[in-house]
Amino acid sequence: MTTALCPGSFDPPTNGHVDVIRRALAIFDEVVVGVIGNPSKNSMFSSEERVSLLQEVFRDVDRVSVESFDGLLVEYAGRRHVDVIVKGLRGVADFDSELQMAQMNHHLSGIETCFVATNPSHGYISSSLVKEVARLGGSTDRLVPVEVQKALDAKGSK
Ligand code: PNS
Repeated sequence: MTTALCPGSFDPPTNGHVDVIRRALAIFDEVVVGVIGNPSKNSMFSSEERVSLLQEVFRDVDRVSVESFDGLLVEYAGRRHVDVIVKGLRGVADFDSELQMAQMNHHLSGIETCFVATNPSHGYISSSLVKEVARLGGSTDRLVPVEVQKALDAKGSK
């Protein structure tokens, strides 16, 4: 049985993230979604909120588990005995930083990173832009799952 780890800030989870996690599910037996505890000072959702949103989105999929982690990703991956890290690539802009992280993680622990090519229809979606659109009163319809739309609305940022 192979287990993939999909790590990220998920502040908030977007349709792009959901696509990457679903693609990982199509390849691997189980997927652990690792939500980093403290992404940045600019975060909108607490780690508990981000975990709970992803759990809601994947409530019908028993091969997905969602947890938060702190510290080094490779140490968390070791504790969870995952086989591989899975990341999405939206385009060349993602490639430099993702390649560097994959190489660093491999240097630190030998773990492999597999990249999936993001569906082009989600290529322009990022959590930061979603937050900006929401904060400025734009619609987040078709950018994020409906559970996340509700949470954005509840933050008073419709
Ligand atoms: O969604 P993001 O912000 O692109 O996710 C980045 C994340 C959380 C995967 C990355 O920052 C990370 O792995 N952080 C954990 C700390 C760590 O291990 N740093 C060294 C990575 S090479």
